[in-house]
Amino acid sequence: MNSVLYCMEKLNKNSKLRQMDDYIQHGSTSCLKHTIAVAYYSIKLADRLGIKYKKSELIRGALLHDYFLYDWHDGNGRGVHGFTHPSAALKNADRDFALTETERNIIKRHMFPLTPIPPKCREAWIVCMVDKYCSLYETFNRKTAYEKVQTKTPDKFTELYKEIINF
Ligand SMILES: [Fe+2]
Ligand SMILES: [Fe+2]
Repeated sequence: MNSVLYCMEKLNKNSKLRQMDDYIQHGSTSCLKHTIAVAYYSIKLADRLGIKYKKSELIRGALLHDYFLYDWHDGNGRGVHGFTHPSAALKNADRDFALTETERNIIKRHMFPLTPIPPKCREAWIVCMVDKYCSLYETFNRKTAYEKVQTKTPDKFTELYKEIINF
């Protein structure tokens, strides 16, 4: 089993990970799909760069970086989403998982430079950059992002993942 899937299956136990498929992130892409793509491309970038990094922490942090668990388009007074959602995601993730400092930093700092404090480890820098790439891709391909991924398949993470890497 590959490493992103392995982490997903583990995180999925006793958590609300699947709920992320109920909320839209950008265009027609759910938060779950978005985070799978960010995790996948983060390890791809880290491998391409040939740097040393903590792989499982990079993947777990990437999968949880948008674990805020609400529809951010509903205008329900949570402040400006871009600024507030990293803290909301971290609060939820801290409640549901035993996080490392690297994982916490990935989640908390992924919106830099919108939120002014920069990441402090390479894993968090990578997710911060890949998140922007995936977000732009999803926004400019509103209808067709990750086209091969069928709509909701929350019980089929394997298929979801296989499809996403082929987009
Ligand atoms: Fe985010
Ligand atoms: Fe994101």
